Amino acid sequence: MCGIIGFTGYLNSAEVLLQGLSELEYRGYDSAGIACLRDGKVEIIKEVGKVSSLHAKVPADFTSSCGIGHTRWATHGGVTEVNAHPHRYGKVTLIHNGIIENYHELAEELAKGGRFPVSETDTEIAALLLDSLYTGDAYAAIKEACNHLEGAYGFCIMFDDQPEVIYCIRKGSPLVATHTDEGSVIASDMVALLRYSKDYFVLPEFHIAKMTKDAIIVTDFEGNIVNPEIMTVTWDTTAAQKNGYKHFMAKEIHEQPEALRRTIMPRIVKHAEGSELGGLSLPDFTADNIPDSLFKDVSRIIITACGTAMHAGMMGKILFERLLRKPVTVDIASEFRYEDPILDENTLVITVSQSGETADTLAALRLARENGARTLSIVNVKGSSIARESDYVFYTHAGPEIAVASTKAYTAQLSAFYMIAFRFAYVLGKITAKECSDYMEGLLDVIPSIEEVLKQEDDVEAISHHLVKAENLFFIGRSLDYALTWEGSIKLKEITYIHSEAYAAGELKHGTLSLITDGTPVIALATQSHVLSKTLSNVKEVRARGAFVICVTTKDAVIEPTLCDFRIDIPRTDDIFAPFSAAVILQMIAYHTASLRGLDVDQPRNLAKSVTVE
Ligand code: AGP
Repeated sequence: MCGIIGFTGYLNSAEVLLQGLSELEYRGYDSAGIACLRDGKVEIIKEVGKVSSLHAKVPADFTSSCGIGHTRWATHGGVTEVNAHPHRYGKVTLIHNGIIENYHELAEELAKGGRFPVSETDTEIAALLLDSLYTGDAYAAIKEACNHLEGAYGFCIMFDDQPEVIYCIRKGSPLVATHTDEGSVIASDMVALLRYSKDYFVLPEFHIAKMTKDAIIVTDFEGNIVNPEIMTVTWDTTAAQKNGYKHFMAKEIHEQPEALRRTIMPRIVKHAEGSELGGLSLPDFTADNIPDSLFKDVSRIIITACGTAMHAGMMGKILFERLLRKPVTVDIASEFRYEDPILDENTLVITVSQSGETADTLAALRLARENGARTLSIVNVKGSSIARESDYVFYTHAGPEIAVASTKAYTAQLSAFYMIAFRFAYVLGKITAKECSDYMEGLLDVIPSIEEVLKQEDDVEAISHHLVKAENLFFIGRSLDYALTWEGSIKLKEITYIHSEAYAAGELKHGTLSLITDGTPVIALATQSHVLSKTLSNVKEVRARGAFVICVTTKDAVIEPTLCDFRIDIPRTDDIFAPFSAAVILQMIAYHTASLRGLDVDQPRNLAKSVTVE
């Protein structure tokens, strides 16, 4: 939830930290701060607001070779300068990403020893604890502190009597690091390391990294030196920049054809022309190391995730039940983890997460594993916690998604569900190889369809002008369209701050229709031909009560022109693939409405890109 970065080396650490915090700001931006070692003393500068406000407060001559920096998404304590990180007590200065769940009990114990915090944060209690345990041996103090701390944490720690050294430890929250000739860098996210190196490693949980100018030494709690696997990102720095778009979200909406190409193509083997198996192979999961045995003897499937990732799962449920004829449930991860779910070795639990670090989803995964379920995760960030803790991982290759509102990761997650469903159905003998190949052709055709839809952006932008002043809005649909209304609704809410609801079109008359008054905007999704007439009847119901209707449908759908105020057509495709193009329309509606309202599209209020705390 917060962005943290540490540096020690041959560059000006203040510059390294401020630059890194700017790149990490999407993870949280209530307040920010840096602590740098200068002339033998640790100096701290903190500021409420965005990193730019902190930057303005740092004097030009504030140079240093070692420091830690933090951009905050408040969990404990208000948004104040005192509560901003870094926190310092005695000889200890630290920054933290995560939540210390037992900080009240710890504070009471520490108070008995005369140690009292000045802030309202859980993080400062960790500084008090470490200082109470530190007698010169950082390893011993950190290990002992971990025995007392409950919750999730990623810490970067400086001890006054160990100049130019930073110690790091994590549990649950992410920390990635790299060492180059310029020094040692650690951060909560790879995007802050890219300018120094594409090679990085993930700090294993309960391992201590000691960062000096000339090396990063990782040891386990028994003192054994460990060499974590070095991974290489395929991104480059420009990929994480805006490439000329006004917002990251706009860039990422337009990156969807490429993101889908990168996610689908590695799973396709083209057959020789004229092959009786059709032009394309089955989805091939060899490179993913996902065996067909994973799909055998599965009695039920549970898909669990949060937010947009959960909405992708809602689409996966419909696909799986249609093709596999097996029971599928979609659970919100924060509910799943506390409801004592029924799990066994024949349950396949699929977790979905763009960041791979969402705390509730990670906890749901761990619960599934503890109960013997098979686990497969769909993740966009290589080496992330959820990826590392799953039995099997299906990586989407959407590239870095910086905007808080997920777009390309969502459609990439959809493609993952489609390919898994096709492979799964083939393994179960529900479809033939040729049928599977035809499905894959259809999936690949989604890419040019989305390219077509993106050309309609000006039309969508024009329609968005009619929504700028809306206060309440409804998305309605049936079947796959209903699953998509959930995604359309969260996209609109989270960046325009307009209240909206996703509703099964057939359910409106059971109560919610009373909310439809003259001019109420309704976005009707009508891409599924088997329920088109029913959906159009529901559109007539809202129309009759004065609703302002935007209908997202397919080019060949026959709809009375007077039924909608605006009609947006997506390219003709097999109904099963319609959600991809329709999703892009809804993303653009949300994006342009938010832009027209003059809002911070990439970093909407109160939100963060990765919710790594409960
Ligand atoms: C989506 O636009 C939101 N930013 C949010 O719902 C997000 O999908 C959710 O927090 C899950 O994140 P994850 O995919 O990284 O686990």
